[in-house]
Amino acid sequence: MDIILLGPPGAGKGTQSQRLVEHHGMRQLSTGDMLRAAVKAETAVGKEAKAIMESGGLVSDEIVSRLIDDELASMNDSVGAIFDGYPRTKAQAEALDDILAKHNRSLDHVIELEVNEDALVDRITGRFTCANCGAGYHDRYKLPRVEGVCDKCGSTKFKRRPDDNEETVRKRMQEYRAKTAPILPGYEERGIVTRIDGMAAIDEVTDALEEVLR
Ligand code: AP5
Repeated sequence: MDIILLGPPGAGKGTQSQRLVEHHGMRQLSTGDMLRAAVKAETAVGKEAKAIMESGGLVSDEIVSRLIDDELASMNDSVGAIFDGYPRTKAQAEALDDILAKHNRSLDHVIELEVNEDALVDRITGRFTCANCGAGYHDRYKLPRVEGVCDKCGSTKFKRRPDDNEETVRKRMQEYRAKTAPILPGYEERGIVTRIDGMAAIDEVTDALEEVLR
C-alpha cells in the first residue's frame, strides 16, 4: 500500500509516519529528512537546498522528485511507501504519478491531517530530537522520562532544526497554503482523500489512520 500524508508543517506527518513504519513495516519517504541528510553531508543537492530550507521556501521540484525516484528504485515492491512531505506542488504531484507508474506502483490513499495553524507554531518551536537516534520530544508535551537523557537510546545529546523558528514556520505555512493545498482537489477527483483531525491526541490520530488503512 502506498500513501501520501499531507498537512502543514507540524501537522504530525513525521510522528505518524514513524508509527506506521513500526506497526506495518512500511517505509517513510520524507523529502525533508532526505534534504537534511544532504545538507549535513554537504552534497551538491545539500548546498543548493540549505539556504532555501532555512528561509522556509521550497526546494526545486526536479531535485525532490529525483530523490523520491531514487528511493523507490531501491525499495522492494512488497514494501508500502509513506510519502511524507512530498508532493508539495502540482508539478511534484504529476511527477509522482509518473514515478509510481515507472515502478509499477499506485497510490491507495491521500490522508490530510487537518490542524489549527496557531497550535502548529507552538508544536514546532518546542520540538527537539535526540541527536543520536532521532527520537522526537517537545519542551512542553513530551519531555524525556529522565531529564536530559533520551528514552530510546540513552544519549544526552539533543538538537533542534534551524528552520523551527516562528518566522520560518509562518513562511512554511504560507507555502503550504499557496502551493501544496491546491493539489488536494486532483486527488479528491480520484476519490482517494481522507481527512483526519490532526488536533486530536497523537494516539487518537494513529487510531484514525489505522482505520483508514484497514
Ligand atoms: P519537512 O521536513 O517536510 O517539514 P514540514 O513539512 O515543515 O513538516 P515538519 O517536519 O515540520 O512537521 P510534521 O508534520 O512532520 O510534524 P511532526 O510529526 O514533526 O520540510 C522541511 C523543508 O524542506 C521545507 O520547508 C522545504 O524547504 C524542504 N522540503 C521538504 N520537502 C520538500 C518538497 N517536497 N518540495 C520542496 N521542498 C521540500 O510534529 C511536530 C511536533 O508536534 C512534534 O514535536 C510532535 O511531537 C508534535 N505532535 C505531533 N502530533 C501531535 C498531536 N496530535 N498532538 C500534539 N503534539 C503533536
